[in-house]
Formats: sequence, C-alpha cells, structure tokens
Amino acid sequence: MQKITVFSPATVANLSCGYDVLGMCLAHIGDEITVTKIAAKGIKIAKMKGFDLPLDATKNAAGASALALLKKIDIDFGFEIEIVKKVHPGSGIGSSASSAAGSVFAINELLGRPFSKMQLIAFAMEGERVACGAPIADNVAPAILGGFTLVKSTNPLKVLSLPTLNDLFVVILHPQIEIKTADARNILPKEIPLTAAVKQWANVGSLISALYEKDYDLFSESLEDVIVEPYRSKLIPDFNQVKLISLEAGSLGCGISGSGPAIFSICKGEKSAINVTEKINTFYGTTSINFHIFITKVNSEGIKIMQPKYT
Ligand code: HSE
Repeated sequence: MQKITVFSPATVANLSCGYDVLGMCLAHIGDEITVTKIAAKGIKIAKMKGFDLPLDATKNAAGASALALLKKIDIDFGFEIEIVKKVHPGSGIGSSASSAAGSVFAINELLGRPFSKMQLIAFAMEGERVACGAPIADNVAPAILGGFTLVKSTNPLKVLSLPTLNDLFVVILHPQIEIKTADARNILPKEIPLTAAVKQWANVGSLISALYEKDYDLFSESLEDVIVEPYRSKLIPDFNQVKLISLEAGSLGCGISGSGPAIFSICKGEKSAINVTEKINTFYGTTSINFHIFITKVNSEGIKIMQPKYT
C-alpha cells in the first residue's frame, strides 16, 4: 500500500473529574489525514486544508508525532501528509490530538503495523508536546483506542480501555473563542488541598465503577470537578449558566471539554440530548458570543481507515 486516508476523531479529555487521565472518543467529527509513501526520507506536510497551521513538520502536531515514529524504525523512504483539518484548533475537543494520532496511525498501516497501539499513543504524545507544551495522553489515547480511556501512567505509558454505557449522547457547545491549552494549564495551582483531592479521586473511581456497572446515576454523580473547573470556568463566558441549564434540562453531567472553551453535556438518550441542545442554544443565543452546538455519540472504534476501502 502506498497511500491511505484515515478519519481521526475529536475527543473530550478530563471528563470533569479526571484531569489528564480520563478521555472519551467522539463520533462524527474528526480530521481526515492522507499519508503517502515518498522516496525522500523524513516527513513532509504537503497540504493543510481548513485552518492555517504550521507546515514545518517539527512544529506541527501530525508532523512531530510522525517524526517520533520515524526515530524508532530504520527505513529508506519517507511520508507526505495531507490534512483536512476539521477539528477547530483551540476548541477543547482534542484538535492537536486528532492530527497527532491520525498521522502515526496511518503511517503504521502503510508500514504493515510494526507498532502497537500503545506505541502509537506514545508517538502521538510527542505531537501534543509540540502543540500544547506537554506530552499529554488523555486525548490521543481515546482517539486511537476509541471509547473511554484511563491513562494509568505516562512513564511508563500505560493506558486502560474502559467500557462504555450504551445510550450516551454528547452535546458539544463550542463558543467561538480560542483558549490555548498551554495557557489553561498555566493558570492551575501547583498544589491542591487534600480535601479536594479526596473528593476528586473518589469521583474518578466511582465514574469507572459506573461504566463497568452500567450505573447511569453513579456516572452522573461522578461527573464533578472540584479542582480544575473552578479556575478554568472563568475563561469561558457564561460557563456556570450553561452548566445549570444543561443539568436542569436533564443531562447526566456537564463540564469543560479538555482545556476548553468547548463545554460538553453527556445525556442518556437522544431525546434528552435534543432537549439539552435546544435549551443551551436558546440561552447562548442571548449572549454576544458566536458559537456552534452539535450532538454526537461516543465513538467506540477510534481512528478508522477511509481509503482504500476494503469492502
Ligand atoms: N488534560 C488536558 C488539559 C487536555 O486539560 O489540559 C487538553 O485538551
């Protein structure tokens, strides 16, 4: 195979209580990444459609992850990458991760899969390092593995795939402001009170139990963030009001998606998701901020091949 196109999905990191450890893969929205084998060694970003991002491979999330992969294999050819960028940079739904994960997934396929998914996550983390200043795994892991994931540790890298609840719908509100992940990380305190930590790790444990036990009530109770949200919510216009409206309209939980500004609401069933969307839409329409809002589902598959089609 000389050329491949993959769909590399958007993701919601943190899921309120799990800063830097929990993540969830989204359906319907993702970057389309085409990788072609070329004679010249190295990585060339040939095209970028949708957004104006660096074409220098060392400065681009897809390029940096691909370069990390190339360091681990001895080959006498290289790859050209074309990106149709559909996940808005700086939106909070894992834009850099979808590019970083997509390029290495595609290259691995062209090479005949010499690397495991865990190794691909490690390469993609290098893309995250370039894009947001930290080699975080909580977006790239669900993009590659699909579903819900838990980053047990980054060094050594260990990521667990978690079960999902069947009837989940996700509402994403994307206020059209940009928050840089690096900035949203820098405003967080270096130390936290023990009482907050106790609450937070109880929530993480309960959320994971809820996924295994298929317990929607416990899942809902556990979607609570007493550590990061109080700081970051100040960066997002009317966050507290949106959250209140979402919960009153029946969502299971509502929080900041990754480092924001996107706000996610998780709902049980499509009817509930439509109701939540309508209520948030009506409210946010009264603010002065432009926004997009959409409903999607949990994507249990992760990155998938679009071309060539094997059917
Ligand atoms: N866990 C990261 C953060 C995700 O919250 O900074 C960034 O999308």
